[in-house]
Amino acid sequence: PLTGPREMFQKAYKGGYAVGAFNVNNMEIIQGIIAAAEEERAPLILQVSAGARKYASQVYLMKLVEAALVDADLPICVHLDHGADFDICKACIDGGFTSVMIDGSHLPFDENIALTKRVVDYAHDKGVWVEAELGRLAGIEEHVVSEENVYTDPDQAMEFVERSGCDSLAIAIGTSHGAYKFKGEPRLDFERLEKITKMMPDYPLVLHGSSSVPQEFVEMANQFGGQIPGAKGVPEDLLRKAATYGVCKINIDTDIRLAMTAVIRKTLMENPSEFDPRKYLGPARTAVKNMVQHKIKNVLGCSNAI
Ligand code: G3H
Ligand code: 13P
Ligand code: ZN
Repeated sequence: PLTGPREMFQKAYKGGYAVGAFNVNNMEIIQGIIAAAEEERAPLILQVSAGARKYASQVYLMKLVEAALVDADLPICVHLDHGADFDICKACIDGGFTSVMIDGSHLPFDENIALTKRVVDYAHDKGVWVEAELGRLAGIEEHVVSEENVYTDPDQAMEFVERSGCDSLAIAIGTSHGAYKFKGEPRLDFERLEKITKMMPDYPLVLHGSSSVPQEFVEMANQFGGQIPGAKGVPEDLLRKAATYGVCKINIDTDIRLAMTAVIRKTLMENPSEFDPRKYLGPARTAVKNMVQHKIKNVLGCSNAI
């Protein structure tokens, strides 16, 4: 059934694992992710960005998830990723999402709190979960381009949660969005994470920008005409470790894009006379499934958690 993330996060916190939050933009992505979660009996968060709403429409994505739930017996949370303002959060809450993110991370502290609280008041009235963000991730998002990481301050995090009433908090400890996360040695600020966890025990934290950028896909894409040299993600063991420090939700989008694109490039190059979209979208869907299944089993640690 469609569900909010409360129970998922309570169990994840206790169990020292994380739930995967995967971005969805079309049918093949949704089907690939759900097939993996079903085989692993894993809880699942499917998240929809403003860009996804623009591309596919909120209703289509919602109905695709509902269609999957006709056969799949899984708890699935449908979440708005990086809601930029009150109106988009309201539209998703009214449209049946079970969780929303209000992203006021680019705003001054008090304004971020005020915006988050406004969404919290509306959402809680309808039983919907609210994720907020404090600190800034370097990288590119649709509405925010940040040159620099601004790591989350543990004292501020505590005050932010108390004053805004948000249910979970996305923090900045060194991850970033996209396929180029680290120039040198990848590193996350676990000291800071531990401080936050100690100050707010049992409070679910969220890690954005958590794709690992599997080199097999980077190499496959580049081998078949792509140009994404030097792409680098968060090493899997660091994510696994974060999951034992109160990080209950780990966001992954880039790895889905890479898996699909690499396989589509390969399939088309190896079969130049093929023009049936099912012949390359099918393998792309399988690649998403296999990639997500690997994450669930070996990185998130949430197999058989439902
Ligand atoms: O955080 C960004 C997500 O990867 C979503 O990307 O806004 O291009 O859909 P998008
Ligand atoms: P990646 O770009 O690392 O996949 O991060 C996705 C994300 O944080 C979506 O909110
Ligand atoms: Zn994000």
